[in-house]
Amino acid sequence: MFYTPRLRLRAITPDDLAPFWRWVNDPEVHQFVTTIWPLSPQDEEDWLRQVRQRPPWERPLVIETQAEGRWVPIGNIALVRIEWRHRWAELGIMIGEKAFWGRGYGTEAVQAMTGIAFDILNLHRVQLEVYDFNLRARRAYEKAGLRLEGRRREAIFYRGAYHDSLLMAVLRREWTPPAWWREWPYPGAAAGQGIAAA
Ligand SMILES: CC(C)(COP(=O)(O)OP(=O)(O)OC[C@H]1O[C@@H](n2cnc3c(N)ncnc32)[C@H](O)[C@@H]1OP(=O)(O)O)[C@@H](O)C(=O)NCCC(=O)NCCS
Repeated sequence: MFYTPRLRLRAITPDDLAPFWRWVNDPEVHQFVTTIWPLSPQDEEDWLRQVRQRPPWERPLVIETQAEGRWVPIGNIALVRIEWRHRWAELGIMIGEKAFWGRGYGTEAVQAMTGIAFDILNLHRVQLEVYDFNLRARRAYEKAGLRLEGRRREAIFYRGAYHDSLLMAVLRREWTPPAWWREWPYPGAAAGQGIAAA
């Protein structure tokens, strides 16, 4: 597992499919992502089977934080596509538990995944696309060090109107790791476990 001061990132298990199903079917969550059509629990099972065919580093990780003394799943994060030749990856994130929005967890998870891409997978660039109306995500990515690179004009049709899709990215040489990146164990981690603990 990977640890940050307040989060841990772990592999998906079949038990995660119930909260995942709830999150992807929540209109407040899925308005910002590509999966807008309702999905069934069976769809989720099919998706997990397909995920398991991917190499480990392209499988989404569950984002957990501690609440009432135990680890609670609040979302997921992934390097959804890795281009080894060009050494870049695309990042995707969803914090599905809305009560946990706006507390800095998204920024912390993106910082961790960016650090993993650079310092563990030896990638050169992390990029993503975000809808222009997703102001919370844009701010979280900016705080995590991604820069606006461009926009695909009116590439997104949502609720009767076209919106731009923004391209954001960070290069390894311009990435400033957060202060906690080299300090472990973190408060939330078990003794002896740090960000690089498997
Ligand atoms: C996007 C997401 C990952 C961000 O995670 P988060 O933990 O909520 O975000 P953070 O708390 O780290 O940062 C959010 C920032 O946006 C700001 N923000 C929130 N709403 C805002 C708004 N309407 N306008 C401008 N800024 C806003 C917050 O104030 C905060 O910035 P600050 O720390 O400078 O005050 C999470 O909200 C999420 O998963 N949302 C649903 C799915 C989604 O949008 N996924 C991304 C698709 S590209």
